[in-house]
This record gives sequence, structure tokens and C-alpha cells, in this order.
Amino acid sequence: MKQELENLQKDFKKAVDDVKDVLKLDEVYQRFFSRKSGEMTNIMKNLKELTGDARKEIGKLANEVKGELEDIYGKKKDELENQKWDEIAQTEKIDITQPKLPKKRKGHLHPMTIVHNELEDLFTSMGFMVLDGPELESDFYNFEGLNIAKTHPARDSQDTFFIKNKPEWVMRTHTSPVQVRAMQKYGAPLRTVVTGRCFRNESTDASHEHTFYQMEGLVIDREISIANLIGTMKELLQGVLKREVEVRLRPGYFPFVEPGFELDMKCLVCEGQGCGACKHSGWVETLPCGLVNPKVIEHGGLDPKEWTGFAFGLGSMRLCMQKYGVEDIRHLHAGDMKFLEQF
Ligand code: DAH
Repeated sequence: MKQELENLQKDFKKAVDDVKDVLKLDEVYQRFFSRKSGEMTNIMKNLKELTGDARKEIGKLANEVKGELEDIYGKKKDELENQKWDEIAQTEKIDITQPKLPKKRKGHLHPMTIVHNELEDLFTSMGFMVLDGPELESDFYNFEGLNIAKTHPARDSQDTFFIKNKPEWVMRTHTSPVQVRAMQKYGAPLRTVVTGRCFRNESTDASHEHTFYQMEGLVIDREISIANLIGTMKELLQGVLKREVEVRLRPGYFPFVEPGFELDMKCLVCEGQGCGACKHSGWVETLPCGLVNPKVIEHGGLDPKEWTGFAFGLGSMRLCMQKYGVEDIRHLHAGDMKFLEQF
């Protein structure tokens, strides 16, 4: 065994001497020291078969050899690694005549995303949860559940895209369907906002798009009043626009609220003078809202005698236009870099 150890020591030294890179060095190490079948490992295992003084003597020797070989391995590894860095340092040159590399173009959020993020932050800070709903909706959630019956004239103003041979499905015309979905899923009390894409069969102009965004808000609790509604709406507009805004409240009709309102704000693009963004009226219809109709509360699976609520449907594209002074809604979907790079 003594002889075996001596041979092994020689073999190891020779193998390490021949090695030129770290990978090969590790292969050599494995050959001798791998746990399962390394040559050194095997000798250490065989020590068990020896007895008495022989075991003591050979055991000591084997440990010394093992320590020595490990040192050799460690030194060689350091040497090879240093050599590698030296080579890199010698071959790498800095060319100071090289022209500056073109500036990397960095992307950024779309203005609509910025507005939605701000709105969601604002409402989560007031204890609302942010929900989502499907863009392809059932007739029930989009209309029926919101108290818009099949023959109701309100359906005319919300003509949308239908799916061939699937009359019970529609591309949602508003985010309001999530009102009933939210009540069914979470019950009451409830505070939620939903931002999302909506669709209507609409000819486009400076303030209308067939595909647009809304943010729905719904609060269900006991004894909710119009004062709660107005307070929240003011908080919303000032939070996003970061300035005082002049508003006016008019009665408005929506089958899913009673009473219903239209909350308009003075156009910030033209300061009330009249422009494309406000249909030349000086006022922008921004926030239709109202107290939730008891029938909708019922569809949500709650008892309208116990629960009340308010809801609003913000045209978030219009709000975005007001915030940034965009005069035509179509810019927001055009994907024109000249427009988008301004944000
Ligand atoms: N969903 C309505 C629309 O798109 C807007 C609306 C009005 C939403 C009143 C509401 C509301 O939640 O209370 O025309």
C-alpha cells in the first residue's frame, strides 16, 4: 500500500504538471478525489482492512499524501486563474479613438398606463381593491344584470361588437359588468375599482373611439349617501390632475343607478373656451355616477334593504387627455412614436 501511495503521488504530480487550464485541472482532481471512485479515495477506504501498527503507519502517511496533493491542486488552481486574468489584461485594449456608442433607447409606460397606475394607487390608498373582468362578456353581466333589459333603449347607445352565432356574448361596452361580478364574488361591504378596455360600434372622432378605457368604481356598504359619492369623486379628480378642478353635477340617466348623475369638469385643454376635446362646449363629461340601483344589488346576491352603494364609470382616456392636454383621443391608440416620446 505504501508503494501504491508513492505511485499515486507521482501520477498526480505529473498529471497536474501537464494541465494547462482550470477545467482540465478539475478533471484530474476528480480522477483522484471523486467521492465514489477517486484513486486516493479508494486507498483511504482500503485502510480499514489494515490492522494494528500497519494501519497507524499507513494511515498517517496516506493523510500526509492527501494533504500534500490537495495543496498542490490549490496552488495550481490559483496559478491558472491568475494566468487567465493576465492574458485578458494583455490582450484587452481600450481604443480611445472609437466614436461614442449610440445612446440606448429606453422604453417607458404608455400615458394610459401611467394614468391607470395613478388611479389604482390613489384608490388602493383609500382601501379599495383592484379587480379585473373579461373583455368578452355575457349579455347578462353587460346588460341584464345592470337592469338594461333586452328591449331597453339604453342598448342603442351601447351598440357593440357581437360574436357570430353567439348572441349571448358581447365585447363589453363598459366596465360596469364587474359590479355584479364583484358583489357575487366578494359580498358586502365592498370597495373596488376596475380599469379596463371597452368596445363600442362607434364612428371615431376627436373624442370617440370604438376601443377605449374606463375605470369603474363601486362601494357597497350600509347607509351610503350622495355625500360619500361626491367626496370620493373630488378626491379622484384632484388626486390625478394634481390641481383644483371646476366640476358641475347634472342629473343623468343610467338604468343601473338611481339617482344617476353626470359629473362634468371644466375642460383643462382649452380652459373652458371650447375645443375638440370638449366637443366645443368647455365642459368634459368625465364621471357618470350614482347610487346603485337596488335591482343591481339584488343581482349581486345581496339584500338591497340592508345594503346600499354608489358607483361611477370614469372615461379614463378622457381623463388622460385632460391631464396631458391631448386634443384628439385617436393619438392614444395610434402608436405614433413622435406622440409617445413626449411622455
Ligand atoms: N357604464 C356607463 C357607461 O359606460 C357609465 C356609468 C354610469 C358607470 C354611471 C357607473 C355609473 O358606474 O354609476 O356609459
